Amino acid sequence: MTTTQAASMGELQERAHGVEHDYAKGSPHIRHHAVRDRLITSLHTLVQEVIDRNGQCRVLELGAGHGTFTDHLLAAGARITVTEMSTPSVRFLQSRFRHNPNVTVLHDQSGGATCRVGPVDAVVCISVLHHIPDYLGTVRQLVERIVPGGAFLSAQDPLWYPRRSRLSMNLDRNAYFLWRLGQGHFRRGLSTRLRRMRGVYDETNEADMVEYHVVRNGVDEEALRDLLAPAFEKVEVQRYWSTQSGVLQAVGERVFPPTTFGLIARHRT
Ligand SMILES: C[S@@+](CC[C@H](N)C(=O)[O-])C[C@H]1O[C@@H](n2cnc3c(N)ncnc32)[C@H](O)[C@@H]1O
Repeated sequence: MTTTQAASMGELQERAHGVEHDYAKGSPHIRHHAVRDRLITSLHTLVQEVIDRNGQCRVLELGAGHGTFTDHLLAAGARITVTEMSTPSVRFLQSRFRHNPNVTVLHDQSGGATCRVGPVDAVVCISVLHHIPDYLGTVRQLVERIVPGGAFLSAQDPLWYPRRSRLSMNLDRNAYFLWRLGQGHFRRGLSTRLRRMRGVYDETNEADMVEYHVVRNGVDEEALRDLLAPAFEKVEVQRYWSTQSGVLQAVGERVFPPTTFGLIARHRT
């Protein structure tokens, strides 16, 4: 990716995650107890395991938003460097954690600052890999920063579309569309959906580019697992149903095929 592209992606991220942005609104992993509780439990377990092994847990959390999960990492005993592309979110994080010496906020406008971060015991990416065009390259660089005994956790990314059934894709898209209708975004939702059905993506429109997974068919969970496997003793992919609507989340968890995945790699070798 060229510098110009990286800069424009930073601008698009900032437009989509501006001052008024509500990180909870369209986020199943924040809104729905079942999904959120599983994630929080995984974060606590991960930090505890790393502290037991390494005596400390220095976490690099990519794309922390407003720090919803930074709070939980802190509560578990981690020291955290959070990165953010969006300036308003950086300001929010700086203000929120200004009295906490265990949180360092890094403004990463180009997505390249992680190379400058020192060694860490764990990397956490929550609902962020699908925003990064070269997510495999990014994860490869992040793994190099993790010391032996450390861990990598990602969560809330859409499963790779080509491996999903037509039923899975349709349930997912229709559930999202119904939720958008309920939000009163009928015209914008319809025009985005029609563009996507025609395979047309607008590189200047954050609705198409920020949710980058729609441009490239989801996030390849198996490629990520294969990338992590040589560097960790154990890599686990967790697939689950996730959608915005509370009712469809409750129904889907019982009967619908998975749409989303999380990944935990333990014990860096
Ligand atoms: C869907 S939000 C998730 C925020 C938070 N992790 C959460 O779960 O509440 C994705 C965030 O990642 C940020 N972001 C996207 N690409 C990034 C990158 N390469 N480096 C740092 N932040 C990034 C965006 O600005 C946005 O705030």
